[in-house]
Amino acid sequence: MLHINEHYLKLQASYLFSDIARRVAAFQEKHPEREIIKMGIGDVTNPLPPACIQAFHQAVDEMASSESFRGYGPEQGYSFLREAIAKHDFQSRGAKVDADEIFISDGAKCDTGNIQELFALDARVAIPDPVYPVYLDTNVMAGRTGAFQDGRYQGLVYLDSTAENGYVPSLPQEPVDLIYLCFPNNPTGSTITKAQLQTWIDYAREHKALILFDAAYEAFIRDESLPHSIYELDGAREVAIEFRSFSKSAGFTGTRCAYTVVPKDCMAYDREGKAHSLHALWNRRHSTKFNGVSYPVQRAAEAVYSEQGKAECRALIDDYLANARLIAEAMDQLGYAHVGGKNAPYIWVQSKRDSWEFFDALLEQAGVVCTPGAGFGKCGQGYIRLSAFNSRANVEKAMERIATAFK
Ligand code: MLT
Repeated sequence: MLHINEHYLKLQASYLFSDIARRVAAFQEKHPEREIIKMGIGDVTNPLPPACIQAFHQAVDEMASSESFRGYGPEQGYSFLREAIAKHDFQSRGAKVDADEIFISDGAKCDTGNIQELFALDARVAIPDPVYPVYLDTNVMAGRTGAFQDGRYQGLVYLDSTAENGYVPSLPQEPVDLIYLCFPNNPTGSTITKAQLQTWIDYAREHKALILFDAAYEAFIRDESLPHSIYELDGAREVAIEFRSFSKSAGFTGTRCAYTVVPKDCMAYDREGKAHSLHALWNRRHSTKFNGVSYPVQRAAEAVYSEQGKAECRALIDDYLANARLIAEAMDQLGYAHVGGKNAPYIWVQSKRDSWEFFDALLEQAGVVCTPGAGFGKCGQGYIRLSAFNSRANVEKAMERIATAFK
């Protein structure tokens, strides 16, 4: 008899965003006449930057001729893209990252979910609350947690991110081995200063722990005092892996391209205490289980770093940040406290009632979809997340509807 991986049975019924999509579809079926504005999942709405489209077309044409056709590419990604990333995203900021420390992939969701395979099942894992559910669910699937009780999985160390600590968690009170951090943060839109991030690096160095730093929203940073990469800080190369994505920075959610940086100095240990290179382990996993992102997509991603591409991506993000300002103003006028939206595409709003209740009220009374904060963890209860990824017209319409329904 084949037995299942019973750790899957500990998971909540469905993935948060699938659950929301199902609820919205049910509402739409019941009310086909209602026009719904989606400000839930952080999915981009603007088309790809023209520089990326041109490079994409050109690469597709190359695939049409036997002279320029490409079959399997390197699993780690083409050097043209890895070199552009190393130069523009890191070296230009004084962060030492070499091209061969960058692994191109089809998404930060996959990478942040898959990375935990490298670590022991008894690794002590620290996860923020609220949190992007992928970090949590993939550790549950792997068997690193106990049962779900009172809104939390047993066996994990939760890092509360609340109004009291400015949505930046404090260092854990008990020893941990693996630490997930995401800044600019999903879902709260909060940011971390260099000094705050340095305390985590120092902690990881002292405890031989590892930080998994999700910087998927780095391109939204407008406050230049904030770190774009963890490698801008001292000692991070030894204790941090960083995840980046073209999804939100260049509109690639449907095109799929991301990357993970695993510095060659980054180590984890066997039971004898011998250090092993995480770069070598991730390279082994990546080349065994992944066959690379398609050539045209990597060419489109490379175009992000051209002068034209940089200007177009900046304009794309400025457009979403202008939406975020409109949302923040609307929440101010209605008297809802909020954070985020200044260096991130998410606005984290205190809903003054149960998150799912507010989700239902917004949907029913305003035809607007949000993400209930409780879906991101216990500390998200009493909050909702509004995403700025939408057209200006839709955001304006959504804010008018919310103002009318909730004033
Ligand atoms: C979100 O809405 O939190 C993100 O879109 C999810 C993701 O990037 O996978």
